Amino acid sequence: MKIGIASDHGGFELKEIIHPFLTGLGYEVVDFGPDHLDNSDDYPDYVIPMAKAVAAGTVDRGIAICGSGVGACIAANKVHGARAALIGDHFSAHQGVEDDNMNIMCLGGRITGYAVAQELITVFLKAEFTGLERHNRRIAKVKELDK
Ligand code: RB5
Repeated sequence: MKIGIASDHGGFELKEIIHPFLTGLGYEVVDFGPDHLDNSDDYPDYVIPMAKAVAAGTVDRGIAICGSGVGACIAANKVHGARAALIGDHFSAHQGVEDDNMNIMCLGGRITGYAVAQELITVFLKAEFTGLERHNRRIAKVKELDK
């Protein structure tokens, strides 16, 4: 499974922690940047290319991190085919995939500590979409907006 990661300066420290964590779990990681801490960088420059890769299937899932996770989530969801959510609890980390086919998890680098982030990521990446008719029906109604 190939995982895309992206951040801005607000999420850079957490991104640098989760990269080796993901590699250690056996995932292939594609880091969309930034590659160094620049306090004037902008999350769309890194999150949007990552969200496009998820939507195109170049990577299987994505993790987007800014300071709060809010901006990253808003940006990612502008990309057709991206289904991103800001996650801060265990239940939503898996249920968002099972019911809503979430393919990008957003985290707040200034909000969620690295240990909790690692648990949320583990749960997110293990979860699978159930494919149940009612969930597909709801997702299809959202997808209508992409046309
Ligand atoms: C950057 O300072 C901060 O605004 C950004 O990382 C994020 O929190 C936006 O949602």
